Amino acid sequence: MSRVHITDVAPRDGLQNQRLPVDTATKLALIGRLVAAGVASVEVTSFVSPKAVPQMADAGDLLQQVQARWPALRCSVLVPNLKGLERAHAAGAREVAVVLSATEEMNRRNINMGLEQAAGVCEDTLRAAQQLGLRTRAYVAVAFECPFEGLVPLTTVATLAQRMAQAGAGEIVIADTIGAAAPGMVTERLGVLSREIAVEKLAVHFHDTRGLGTANAWAALEVGIRRFDASVGGIGGCPFAPGAAGNLATEDLVQLAERSGFQTGISLSGLLEAIDLAQTALQQTLGGRCIGWLRRQQARAATPA
Ligand code: COA
Ligand code: ZN
Repeated sequence: MSRVHITDVAPRDGLQNQRLPVDTATKLALIGRLVAAGVASVEVTSFVSPKAVPQMADAGDLLQQVQARWPALRCSVLVPNLKGLERAHAAGAREVAVVLSATEEMNRRNINMGLEQAAGVCEDTLRAAQQLGLRTRAYVAVAFECPFEGLVPLTTVATLAQRMAQAGAGEIVIADTIGAAAPGMVTERLGVLSREIAVEKLAVHFHDTRGLGTANAWAALEVGIRRFDASVGGIGGCPFAPGAAGNLATEDLVQLAERSGFQTGISLSGLLEAIDLAQTALQQTLGGRCIGWLRRQQARAATPA
C-alpha cells in the first residue's frame, strides 16, 4: 500500500496568526496529542523575529522540550535567515525549513527582502544548514497566486524551486499560501515541476480558503506527490498574506488518503482529541470539512448498544 507522509504544521502555521497567545505548555500538549494520533512529522515552530511574530517567541525552549520528550518525532522548524538558523541549531534543531515567496512584494511583506535577496539568503541558509548536518526543506510560497501581484508565472515557480534544489534542499514544498489553487492548476504546475525535480523531493502545502483543499490534494496525489503539509483542525494562515485562511485540515487529508487506499498511520479519533485541545486553547470552533461526521462517529462509539 502506498504511503502518504503528512507533516502537521499546526504548531507553526496554525498558531502564528492566532489572536490569543498560546503558552509553551499548551503547545506541548497539542504536539503530544498529534503524536498520540500517529503523526510522525511536525513543524514545531519558527525562529523568526519575536517582534514580527510574538507567538513564536518561545521557539528554542519549545523545540528542546519537544525533541527531548518525543525523540523519534520528525521535527522541522522554520528559519527566515542565518540568524534563525543559528538560533535553531543552538536549540538542537535537526531539520530546518527556509521560506522563499515567488513574488517581490510577498517577500518584502513577509521577511523585508526583495525576491533576489530572499533567494540568496535561502540558498546561503540551506548550504549552512547542510554543513551543520541538518535536514532541510525549502518552501516556495505563493506558488499559485500572490495577494499583492496576482497569478504567479509557473516559470518563476519552476526557476525558484530549481534554485532551492540546487542549493541542496532535501524537500521542496510548493505552497498555496492563500488557498487560490484549483485542481487543474495543481495538475499542470506539479506535473511540470515533477519532470524537473524528483517527485520524492516535492511536497505540497495547501490552504482551504475556497474549499478546494482536498480537491487540490487529490490532484497532487495523482501527479505522484506523497508528501503533504496539513494542519489539525484546519487552523492556520500567514499573518503577512491578506486572505490567507486555514490550512488544509489534517483530518480531511487523512480521510481522503485512507479512503482512497493510501496509508497515513494517523488515527482520526486521535486527531479529534487534538482538535478538542486546540479549540479550548484558541476559544474557537475548529475542524475540517469532515468534522461533523467525525463527531457523530465519536458519539455513536460512545453510546452503549
Ligand atoms: N530571529 C530573531 N531575531 C531576528 C532574526 C531571527 N531569525 N533575524 C533578525 N532578527 C533581529 C535582528 O537581530 C534585529 O534585532 P535588533 O532590533 O534587536 O537589533 C532585528 O531582528 C531586525 O533585524 P533585520 O535583519 O533588520 O530584520 P528585519 O527587521 O528586516 O526583519 C525578519 C527580517 C526576517 C527577521 C522578520 O521580517 C521576520 O522575522 N519575519 C517573520 C516572517 C514570518 O514568520 N512569516 C510567517 C511564516 S512564512
Ligand atoms: Zn501556510
